[in-house]
This record gives sequence, structure tokens and C-alpha cells, in this order.
Amino acid sequence: MQSCTIVIFGATGDLSKKKLLPALYHLDAEKRLTADTRIICMGRRESSQEDWKAQVTEFVSPKARGGVNSDLLNTFLDRIHYFQCDINDAFSYHELNTLITSEENNFSQNIVFYLSIAPALFGVVGDQLAAVGLNKEDNGWRHLVVEKPFGYDQKSAEELEGILRKNFTEQQTYRIDHYLGKGTVQNIFVFRFANLLLEPLWNRNYIDHVQITHAEQQGVGGRAGYYDTSGALRDMIQSHLMQVMALVAMEPPADLGDESLRDEKVKVLKAIRPITEDIVDDHAFRAQYAAGEVNGKKEPGYLEDDEVPNDSVTETYAAMKLYIDNWRWRGVPFYLRTGKCMPESKAMIAIRFKKPPQELFKDTVIGDSHANWIVMGLQPDNTLRIELQAKQPGLELSNHTVALETVETEDTKHRLDAYEALILDAILGDRSLFLRSDEVNLAWKVVDPVIEKWAKDKSFVHTYPAGTWGPEEVSRIQDNSCHAWRNNI
Ligand code: BG6
Repeated sequence: MQSCTIVIFGATGDLSKKKLLPALYHLDAEKRLTADTRIICMGRRESSQEDWKAQVTEFVSPKARGGVNSDLLNTFLDRIHYFQCDINDAFSYHELNTLITSEENNFSQNIVFYLSIAPALFGVVGDQLAAVGLNKEDNGWRHLVVEKPFGYDQKSAEELEGILRKNFTEQQTYRIDHYLGKGTVQNIFVFRFANLLLEPLWNRNYIDHVQITHAEQQGVGGRAGYYDTSGALRDMIQSHLMQVMALVAMEPPADLGDESLRDEKVKVLKAIRPITEDIVDDHAFRAQYAAGEVNGKKEPGYLEDDEVPNDSVTETYAAMKLYIDNWRWRGVPFYLRTGKCMPESKAMIAIRFKKPPQELFKDTVIGDSHANWIVMGLQPDNTLRIELQAKQPGLELSNHTVALETVETEDTKHRLDAYEALILDAILGDRSLFLRSDEVNLAWKVVDPVIEKWAKDKSFVHTYPAGTWGPEEVSRIQDNSCHAWRNNI
């Protein structure tokens, strides 16, 4: 355990209410915070300490696993300090510095600065912290945690990087991709590298193609303002899904240290074949949801949202085909797709194997496919399914698909949240589950030509009724009919 002071910028915002404060409460309940750990919640509005603590109780209570425990909650609230600040005003930072460094307060001088604020404000916060010396590690460490989006494209990501770099080093920077905090996503890594059985098969000789799907039933809800400037490709594929792909495709790292894992992911991202403008249509597809029904409930179309311009071509569904041109994967398509207002909420990796070299059983197979699949469900449950062919019982020689399956269903009330793991790592100084700047850059480099082409072409975007799996025209990026999307885990 590491003693520390956690300073949350944007503590009154949505992420803090829904994720950060509940995650910190759970870490406290799990005895992962030292007795002297304090949490400074920075917010613009005026509030007494008591009122803020009453609000924190409201944020934390409904999320508390197994119900809130009043003793634990009181211990947690004792750590909390509300700090009213004007994010642009130098005086606020002087006061913050006094609060943290005054001897009588006895705050730990190891500090996590959590920027749960718009990236446009990263610069001013960094400069102001530096102006009062709070970025210096003279008497304790300083870790700067930043949330996505890390830029809008490669150029803006590099600019943002320059802004962060002015006052904090790469070693002090923790870029969150909450997918890496999910136990099920970390399981990809364990599944691959704790089992010898898979390694001989995990390559272009045996794998036909890989599908990575993230589908969610919810629409853009109250986030249309942000979402319309982003779209599914930036929001999910450039970040979360390319990280999942890197974990599926990477070589085993030399050790479990911070850099080894990230070095291997970077090698994958570097090996992705560039999608030039002339081949964007063969590799990327976008669509927008129209009115429909999700889970028996009517859902208005994306363009009906008040915050969305009538002529918006922002995609709520995006699919891509990527090739990794390295020794292990050359020629194997990786299909990535994500969509809002889909029939189900699920995330999964589906790996289809090639056919055996001799099709002895091609006339006896029952059903339409005799390929082997490995399917890893990432959510809602941690699922692993291996599909094999076996003889159907009976006198005839006929074969059908059987599956070896494990499902670790976690009661949603007891599920660890990704933010618990990530905040703990940020405190402990373990950066392996945080993105390095080169990873972010490389991922932008892959999607940038698509973003550019889509930005220019405002003429037509396919639509799909809310509650369906997206337009059939997506098949345009699939190399053949065996590459059709698999929707079931
Ligand atoms: C976020 C995106 O990063 O991830 C959201 O901004 C998306 O649009 C969310 O809904 C999905 O995360 P999860 O954990 O619910 O799959």
C-alpha cells in the first residue's frame, strides 16, 4: 500500500459520481487505502463539507457492493475534503498547495491528480499546478491520471501530448482506457499466455479470421453533444477495441513489467497495414441508428435528438477490417465493430479457425458450419467457448458442433468495476494497464484516413433501425461469406 493524497478535478461531474467515488469507496472497503489517504474533491460550485459528504453518500450508496456499510462509509467520508476552485484562477492553486503542504494537515505528499475534465482544460491545470510547484517530486511522487478522449485525430493527440509534457513526464502520466481495467479483458492475456495448448494454433496457419464486437443497447442518451463530435470509430474503435485487438494479437511480453506489455502492444499497432484513402470503403463501414425498438422500448432515431444537427452524418455504428502484417498474422483479417442501439449489450472476441486440409466429413455435417471457433465473452459475463466437431450419437456417421464452455457469471451487484483496478494501479505506480503515448498515436494513425474520408463525404450514411444488428451492407468489408458477423457468444 502507498499513502497518498488524491485530487480529483471535476469531482462534481458524471464520471466522478458514477465511477471514481464509488471505486474509491470500494478500495477503502477492501483495505487498499492507507489510513492517511485523503481525497480532495475539486469543484466549481460552493458547498459546505457536510453538504458535499451528503452528496458523496448518495453517489456511493446505490453502487456499494452488498449494500453500503455505515462504518466503512464514515471512514470513507472522513477522508473527503471538498475544495471549491476556479480552474483558471491562480489563487485557487495557491490555496490548494497550502492545504496539501501545510504541516498541520499532515497530508501525504504522494499525490494523484485525476483530471476528470475536458481535455481543453488539461493545459491550464498543468500550468497552474506547475506554477505552485505541485508537479515537482521533491518530497513525494506525483501521478497525473487523464481520461479519454486523447485527441480528436493524430495531430490533436500530439498537441495534447505537448501540453501534458510541459509540466509532467511520461512516467508521471497515466492515460486511462477503462477497458484495460476490466478483469475479463485482462483475462485475454492470461488465457493466451498461461495455456501452452493455444500457442501453436494462435497464428495465420490455423486462424481464418478474428472478430471483435462491442454492442450496446443504449443510444447516445444525454451525451449527444459530445458524441456527435466523436462518433463510434473514435469513441470505441480507436481506443477500446484496438486495445483488445492488440491483446489478442501480441507476442508474449518478456515479463509483467509496465513497459514489456506496452512494448508488445505497440509492435502490433505498428504492424497494422495502413488504410489509404482509396481503400477506405473496402475496410471501413459506418451507419447511424434510425427510430426503432430496443428491448421492447421505442427508441427515437439519432437525428431526432435535440443536440444532434439534422444533417449529422456521425456514425453510431462502425466496422473495420484490419490486417496485421507481421510473421504471425499476415493475411488474417481482424474485424472490429461497435454499435449503439443494438439488440443486446455484449462484448466478445470470436476466432474462427480454418477448415481441416481434408474435408472428410463435408457431407455428414449437421448445420451450416463445421469450423472450429474460440469465443471469449468479455461482457456481460466472462465466457469462454470452444466449438469442436463430434460424432452425433446414433448409427449414422454424422457430425455436429459440441462446445466446451465456461461461464463466470458475476452478479452485477458484486462485480468489480474497472476503475477500482485502475485507480489502485495509479496509486501503486503500476502503468502497465495505462496507455503509453506511442500507443495512442499509432491507433490514431490507423483510423485517421477513415476519419478524413468520412468527414469529407457528407452525402449518405447507411441507417439501421434501433434494436437491430446494423445494415447488411457491412458485408462489403467482409472478404467472404464465412466472415459474416457472429452475434452469439
Ligand atoms: C466509453 C464510450 O468509453 O465506453 C461510451 O465513450 C461507451 O460511448 C462506453 O458506451 C462502453 O463501455 P462499457 O464498459 O459499457 O462497454
